[in-house]
Amino acid sequence: MNIFFDEVHKIFKLDTPHTSYIMTIADGKYLGHAYYGAKIEDTDVAYLTRVFEPPFVPSTNGRDKLSFLDCFPMEYPTHGIGDFREDAFSIRTEDGHEACELFYKDHEIMRGKPSIQGLPATFGLSADTLTLRIDLEDPVLSLKVSLFYSVFADNDCIARSVQIGNLSNNDIYLTKVMSASMDTEGENLSLLTLNGSWARERWMQMNPLGLGFQGVSSDRGESSHQHHPFFALCSEGTDQKHGEVTAMHFVYSGNFTAKAYMGQFNNVRMMMGINGEDFCWKLSEGEIFRSPEVIMTYSGTGLGTMTRNLHALYRRHLIRSPFLHRPRPILINNWEATYFDFNTEKILAIAKQAAPLGIEMLVLDDGWFGNRFDDNRSLGDWFVNEEKLSGGLKNLVDEINKLGMKFGIWFEPEMISPESKLYEEHPDWAIQIPGRTAGLCRCQYVLDLTREEVKEYVFKCLTDICDNANIEYIKWDMNRQLADLGSRYLKKDQMGELSHRYVLAVYEIQERLLQRYPNLLLENCSGGGARFDPGMLYYSPQIWCSDDTDAIERLKIQEGTALIYPLSTMGAHVSDCPNHAVGRNTPFETRGYVALAGTFGYELDVTRIPEEDRAMIPAQTKMYHKYHELVAEGDYYRLASYASNHLYDAYMVVSEDKKEALLTYVQVLMRPNFHSRKLRLDGLAEDKMYKIYKYDISTGEEVPYMTEKTGPSAAATPRESALSGKALMNAGLLIESPWGDFKGILLVIREA
Ligand code: GLA
Repeated sequence: MNIFFDEVHKIFKLDTPHTSYIMTIADGKYLGHAYYGAKIEDTDVAYLTRVFEPPFVPSTNGRDKLSFLDCFPMEYPTHGIGDFREDAFSIRTEDGHEACELFYKDHEIMRGKPSIQGLPATFGLSADTLTLRIDLEDPVLSLKVSLFYSVFADNDCIARSVQIGNLSNNDIYLTKVMSASMDTEGENLSLLTLNGSWARERWMQMNPLGLGFQGVSSDRGESSHQHHPFFALCSEGTDQKHGEVTAMHFVYSGNFTAKAYMGQFNNVRMMMGINGEDFCWKLSEGEIFRSPEVIMTYSGTGLGTMTRNLHALYRRHLIRSPFLHRPRPILINNWEATYFDFNTEKILAIAKQAAPLGIEMLVLDDGWFGNRFDDNRSLGDWFVNEEKLSGGLKNLVDEINKLGMKFGIWFEPEMISPESKLYEEHPDWAIQIPGRTAGLCRCQYVLDLTREEVKEYVFKCLTDICDNANIEYIKWDMNRQLADLGSRYLKKDQMGELSHRYVLAVYEIQERLLQRYPNLLLENCSGGGARFDPGMLYYSPQIWCSDDTDAIERLKIQEGTALIYPLSTMGAHVSDCPNHAVGRNTPFETRGYVALAGTFGYELDVTRIPEEDRAMIPAQTKMYHKYHELVAEGDYYRLASYASNHLYDAYMVVSEDKKEALLTYVQVLMRPNFHSRKLRLDGLAEDKMYKIYKYDISTGEEVPYMTEKTGPSAAATPRESALSGKALMNAGLLIESPWGDFKGILLVIREA
C-alpha cells in the first residue's frame, strides 16, 4: 500500500498490494486519469492521457479547447463546458447557469481514513490505510470539490468519495454528484450487472458494451430488487479465473446510477453515484455535501479475484457488528409457517418443538402489533396485539427464553398504513404531494423521515418494544418503494433532497438503535432482498437475501449475491415444501446445504413438517456449528453455475491456511446414463495432500469420499489415499451423480 505524488511529472500514484491507480495533472490544472490495472513500478505515465498528441492542451491550443475536452480522460468530468460525454458533476446557480469547470488546487496524503459524516463507509486504521484528498476548485463559482481515495494494506480495493464545499455567498444547487468516475478504454468489453425482481434478486447478466450508454439505476428510493448498485467492466472471455475486471460497488441504500459510456475513440467512462433523477441539493454558503462511497476493485485474474477482494474488504473494513465473527443463532421464523394467523400458543408450540432440535432463536414476524390481521393496515401502530399475543409480548419472550431460546422480532419502521391510528393522527407524516392522491403499494405509504418528530416517533416505537422484553434480534423490513415525492416539511427548493435525506434518516435511526443496544443482532430486509447493499451492511451483519426460499431458485440468487458479498451476510433459511414461491419439492437435506451458504435458519412450522424432515434437523444444526466458521471466514470459489449450465451448481470455501475446504454440489437435473461429473477444484494449495470426505446428514459424520472399483462388478469402496491440491485443481474430482433431481452433496476437503 502506498500513495505517492511525483512533483516533477505531477502524477498521483496509488498502490494496493497488486494494483496501481494513476492520475496526472495536465496543463497545470486538469486532473486526468492515466491508469488502473495490475501494479506497475513506473510513475512517469502521463503519456497515457495523450495530451502530447493533437489537439494538445488548452494552453498550447487555445483555439480548440473543446477538442481537448472531448477526449481527455478527465478524472471528475463536469457539465456545461464542452466535455460532451456523460458528466459526473453538475450544478445550477441562482441565475440558472449550469456550467462548472474544476481545476487542481491542492492535495493531502494522510494516514488512516476519515469517516463520512452521516453515511456508512469503509474504515481503516492509520497503520493499514492511507487516504489521498485532491482538492479541485471552480474559481468562478467559488466551489471546492474534494476527491477522496483510500487504499488498504491488506486489500486490492480503493474507496472513493467526494465532498463539495460552497465557498461563495450564493446558494448553489447540486443536480448531480457522482461518487466516482473513471475513464478507460478498450475493445470487446462487456458489462456485468445484477438484476431481477421480487423473489428473483441479483441474477447475473453480462452484456457486450457498445457505443453509447449502458448501465443500471434505481429511482425507487432504495437499492432495489430490479437493479443492483454494482457493475463491472470485463475484458473479452472473462470468467472466474481469467480476464480483466474493473468493478464499482456503491456503499449506499437509496437511488443510484451506474453508467458506462463508450465514446467515439473507444474510450469508456464508467461512473457511479446517487441517481441524478429526483436529486437536487441546495448548498448554501459555507455548507458541505458529502457523497456516499464507491468501492472500486481491479482484477487481472477474472471474477473470482474480484469476489474475494470485495468479500475481504467488507469483512475487515465495513461490517462493524460484534456478530461478524460469531456464529449467528440458528433461528426459526414464523412467516412462512403461519403468516398472519398466529397466537401465543402457536408460537410457543413451534418454539417447544424447535428448541430440542438445536434451533436457538424464535423470530416473530409480521402481524404482532396494532390491528394487523392482514397486510392492509396498522403499520405505524407499534403496540402489541394482545388478541393474538394473550399475556403480552414480554410473557411470550420470557416463555421462549425459558426454553433456552433467544427471541427476535420483525418491524417495518419506515411505513404507515392509511388505516392506522398513526395515520388518523398524522396524515401529513406520509410522503405525499399535496393535492395529488398518492399511490399505495401493499396498501401502505412511506413515512417522511426527513421530519425530526417522525424520526423520534419511529425510534421511540422501537425502543419501547426493546426496553420491555428481552429482544435480541430485529428484522428491519421495508416493503414498498418511494413515489409521490412530497414532504410537508421540506421547503420547495429542497424537495429534491427528499430521497437522499430519507436514506440518511434510516441510517441515523439504525445507528442510534445500535448505539443503544450494542448487542442487538440486526437483519435488514426489504420485500426480500431489495435493500441488500454495502450501506446496510455497515449496520447489519446479515441481510435477508430473498423471499424466494426455494433451494433451487436460491442457487441463482445466492450466486449473484455471493459474487460481491461474503456468505456470512446472506440470510438463508430452510423452508417448507412444496415451496411457497414456486411449488417445488426439494429434499430436506438439499435445502439445508443451500441454506448453509448463508446465515442458516428455518422458516417453516416445525410442528407440521414430515417426521423424517424433522428428524434431520439435529444433524443440520450440528452441521451449521461444525462448518459455519469455514463458510463465514473462508475464501469463496465458484466452480460451476447452475444459472449458466442449467444442470448443476458447485462452490467451495477454503480456509486461509488452505488446510480445510468445503464443497457444496447441487445436482439440479439428473441425466440418464451419466454416472459422474469431473469437477476441477480451486483455491487449494498445489503441494498439499488432501483427503476428501462426504458429510453424512443421517449420522452427522464425515465419511471418506470417492469410490474405487477394482472390476466392473466389484462393490465400490471408499478411497482412502490422498490427492494433491495440484491434481484436484487440474485433473479434478469425480462427483458421483446422486440419483434424482435437486440432490445436494457436501464434501469436506482436509489436508491429509
Ligand atoms: C417481507 C419480508 C418477509 C416477511 C414479510 C412480512 O416480504 O421479506 O420475509 O417478513 O415482509 O410482511
